[in-house]
Amino acid sequence: MFVKILPPQVRSRIAAGEVIGYPADVVKELVENSLDAGATRIEVEVSGGGKRLILVRDNGTGIHPEDVEKVILEGATSKIESESDLLNLTSYGFRGEALYSISSVSRLRIRSRYYQEKEGRQIEVEGGRLLSVRRAGMPVGTEVEVRDLFYNLPVRRKFLRREDTERNRIRDLLRAYALACPGVSFSFFSSGREILSLTGAQEEERVAQLLGEGYERIVGERDLLRVRAYVFRNARQGVFYIFVNRRPVRNRNLKEFLRKVLGYRTVAVLFLELPPYAVDFNVHPTKREVRFLKEKRVLSLLREILKGSGGDLDIDFLSQEAPTYRTGFRVVGQIEETIIVAQRGDYLYFFDQHLLAERIRYEELGEGSEDVACRTALRAGEPLDRERMEELLRRWGDLENPHVCPHGRPLYYRIPLKEIYERLGRNF
Ligand SMILES: Nc1ncnc2c1ncn2[C@@H]1O[C@H](COP(=O)(O)OP(=O)(O)OP(=O)(O)O)[C@@H](O)[C@H]1O
Ligand SMILES: [Mg+2]
Repeated sequence: MFVKILPPQVRSRIAAGEVIGYPADVVKELVENSLDAGATRIEVEVSGGGKRLILVRDNGTGIHPEDVEKVILEGATSKIESESDLLNLTSYGFRGEALYSISSVSRLRIRSRYYQEKEGRQIEVEGGRLLSVRRAGMPVGTEVEVRDLFYNLPVRRKFLRREDTERNRIRDLLRAYALACPGVSFSFFSSGREILSLTGAQEEERVAQLLGEGYERIVGERDLLRVRAYVFRNARQGVFYIFVNRRPVRNRNLKEFLRKVLGYRTVAVLFLELPPYAVDFNVHPTKREVRFLKEKRVLSLLREILKGSGGDLDIDFLSQEAPTYRTGFRVVGQIEETIIVAQRGDYLYFFDQHLLAERIRYEELGEGSEDVACRTALRAGEPLDRERMEELLRRWGDLENPHVCPHGRPLYYRIPLKEIYERLGRNF
């Protein structure tokens, strides 16, 4: 997907306003970009609570060399093209606004290597002005460095809080995204000190890593709403972490509702999943708020699920469902003994079984082992059972470079389920 500038009629439909107020807002935008790029590892470093330096590094797909200069332009995005895409958002980003905003209030350096390229490209920007473009030797992925936030806006800079306050905001934000995306490894260093280090896990493990054991897990599905909740009772103070389609959100009504249903002294993590058209994140410029197409209906379904009234509630002690979610993938099957077909989120994935196995082997063996990896890895033409496919997909999640084989061929491609639904004349 390549970067284009959104036309004015689309831009006018996007909630406008200040995107960046604090260092944590910068981190939020950069981490969302990394997640949209399919990263399985995200490293964040700051100094001065992010006021002096913020660095976010990922192993995602990278930015095409010809696009690196474009990403700092207003309205530049690879994620949507038309107004109707706004009604079916499946990525965190859609405004083409974040890097533009960040670049105009800081000293910015972006280095990125696209997964099909042999080297990376680097740009330096100051107060929105492009200073240099260079080649950069680096692994596949993207590294964004933001220095001296608001150096050119002294009044805004004065509103920044003490170093530890800003750092804690960033830590809390990263904890939220780590809950939202358990398969991704996150690390956070502040002035050289490790604050957070989380390796990719399944959802239950990630919740336990961050909030401890001893939760009740409630899983349920009704109508178009799917819910997974982790509930800790009798906490000293109630806290709700709410995610809608993997996005951490604020919604006053929802929070108040949860207090009533689950109790005031409850800590709970709630993952709500709805089809993208049923939720609107384009309410507030920072996308932290969500509006439901049918809020009353959503709340009443949610109550039924949490309260366990009615049929399809499933308090998941035995974890019947867990294997298919471990990786986040649901294996559909294998075709022609060559391609693994699996569904994850809103996409259908097609993996080349040989290239996938080869990449895994290559990363086990280390640099320079292309040939050995190729010779010894699983080949095309071998039938695979479900467990074997799940195992391969699980290992895929741990790869340093999950996109291409050692010779540069893509390991997989994916198509949005939406496209399949549309071709069949159905709403997604
Ligand atoms: N870490 C990254 N890896 C790969 N591509 C990236 C990365 N960060 C940015 N990009 C590219 O730069 C474009 C612009 O990023 P930016 O965050 O400004 O906008 P956006 O994510 O499209 O929308 P939003 O403003 O809502 O975040 C993205 O659409 C994407 O193509
Ligand atoms: Mg973005």
